[in-house]
Amino acid sequence: MKKSFKTMGALALSLSIMGTGLAGAHASEKKQDDILNVAHRGASGYAPEHTITSYKMGEKLHGDYIEIDLQMTKDGKLIAMHDETLDRTTNGTGQVKDHTLAEIKTLDAGSWFNEKYPEKANPDYKGLQVPTLEEIFQTFGKNANYYIETKSPEVYPGMEQKLEDMVNEYHINKDKLLVQSFSSASLKKMQGIDPSLKLVQLLSYKTPAVLSDAEVQDIKKYAIGIGPNSNMIDKAYVQKAVQNGLQIHPYTVNEKAEMQKLIDWGVTGMFTNYPDLLNEVKKGK
Ligand code: G3P
Ligand code: CA
Repeated sequence: MKKSFKTMGALALSLSIMGTGLAGAHASEKKQDDILNVAHRGASGYAPEHTITSYKMGEKLHGDYIEIDLQMTKDGKLIAMHDETLDRTTNGTGQVKDHTLAEIKTLDAGSWFNEKYPEKANPDYKGLQVPTLEEIFQTFGKNANYYIETKSPEVYPGMEQKLEDMVNEYHINKDKLLVQSFSSASLKKMQGIDPSLKLVQLLSYKTPAVLSDAEVQDIKKYAIGIGPNSNMIDKAYVQKAVQNGLQIHPYTVNEKAEMQKLIDWGVTGMFTNYPDLLNEVKKGK
């Protein structure tokens, strides 16, 4: 059966949360199959990140979730972009917050990819636009699996309420929605606005990561899981999270050997620019 953003992610998440109750080799295979495959900025290893094209490619490659980073324009519109500045992923310059949506819509969000990755270049990428969150919801619908990050929330006061308003306006299925942030304050705002939302605390470590009991208990008050950078965690870290009932989705994992190692350690999902590679690993290829 074809997996898609619309079906597999929520199923995998609910199975992971509930536990499968299976035993032995079958349980192990099932567990591996349930690993959430999060298409990081879409299938951004193959297409310009945070474009509708990249998200569609993520779906085509059977990613379970569309990962979206949010920034906010001068006129208060939520757009999908990783950086606070336009420079890296468009032909514009300057801060997103200093430009209106109309201005940002004139920019080319695809040519940079062709220039940076000539071996993956595609003429169709030239002229791709920066999508709004609204356009993403209009394109993929209310039953897609969205994994949305409030980026730089201190720069964009009110972005949490705008996200909630957009989710409600498009009747997004909240069982299939995950909201992530490095900012615990932003996540707690989201929790205050809508306690039904599933939240994930992103974590960034510069040295080998340790998860303390106090940290686990604090995060569990508002989040269902954590998203640490994959290169600073170890088996003990992963198991501490899982044994305490937290989902754990490391980022950003693009090598098959690392994917398999993390699965063996017990992660419940991961962010990848190459959802096809993660699916190969999950199938034992
Ligand atoms: O959201 C998970 C991962 O994407 C966090 O890092 O910088 O790629 O948003 P970043
Ligand atoms: Ca992100």
